[in-house]
Amino acid sequence: MRQFVIRCRSTPVHAERFLRTVGRAGHSEYLAHILVAGLFLAKGHREDTSVHLVLEKSRDLPRVLSISGASLGSLAGLNESSILGALADALLAGAGRGSDAVSGAGIRCRALSFERLLGELAGAPILLDKDGPDVRESAVIVDPIFVMTDHTPMPAKVRKSMISRGIARVSVGPRTLHASQVVVLLHNEMDRRASFATSRIEE
Ligand SMILES: C[S@@+](CC[C@H](N)C(=O)[O-])C[C@H]1O[C@@H](n2cnc3c(N)ncnc32)[C@H](O)[C@@H]1O
Repeated sequence: MRQFVIRCRSTPVHAERFLRTVGRAGHSEYLAHILVAGLFLAKGHREDTSVHLVLEKSRDLPRVLSISGASLGSLAGLNESSILGALADALLAGAGRGSDAVSGAGIRCRALSFERLLGELAGAPILLDKDGPDVRESAVIVDPIFVMTDHTPMPAKVRKSMISRGIARVSVGPRTLHASQVVVLLHNEMDRRASFATSRIEE
C-alpha cells in the first residue's frame, strides 16, 4: 500500500472559497494535478494507493479529504474543473464540525488534523525533503506514507520536530519540484523496484 499525505496550509475548507482559490494564492488547482499523478494510470486507477489532502485554512478544524484508488467513484472527467468540483462536493458533504462523510465520488471528508491523521495511518512515514538522502539509495520501503506540502512550505518548527523524532527523509533530486511531479517520481521509483524484484524472482 502506498499513501501520500499532502499538507495544504493555505487551502480553504469552505467549498465555495476552495473553488475561488483556483489560480490565486490558495492554488487549489495543484490538488487536481496531485490526484491525477497519485491515483491514475493511462488505463485505470492505482488501486494500491491512497491520497490524503489536509486542508488547513479553516474557521474551525482542518478537513482531510481521503481518496483511494481502489474505491474512487466516477468523475465527470479528468480535467481540473471536474476533479476540483468533486473535491468541493466532498467538502460540502463534510462541512459539519464533527463530520465524517463520503461523497458520491467516493471521497471521504473528515474534520481531522495533520498530526492525528499521521497518528492513525498504518505504515512508515517518510518526509519529502530536497536536501534529504537520495530515494534511489534508500532501503526497501514497505507501506510508505510519503508526507509533503503543496506550494506552502511545512512550518520550520514542524519539520524540525519530525526530523528530531526520527522520521525518514528522502529526496527525488536536486531541483525543487511541484508536489505532483514529486508524486510521479516516487511512483516510478516504487514501480521499478517492484518490477525488478519480480523479474529477479522469476530468473
Ligand atoms: C512545491 S514543493 C514546496 C515548495 C516550498 N517552497 C518549499 O520549499 O517547501 C512541494 C513539496 O514537494 C517537496 N519537494 C519538492 N522538490 C523535492 C525534491 N527534489 N525532493 C524531495 N521533495 C521535494 C517539498 O519538500 C514539498 O513538500
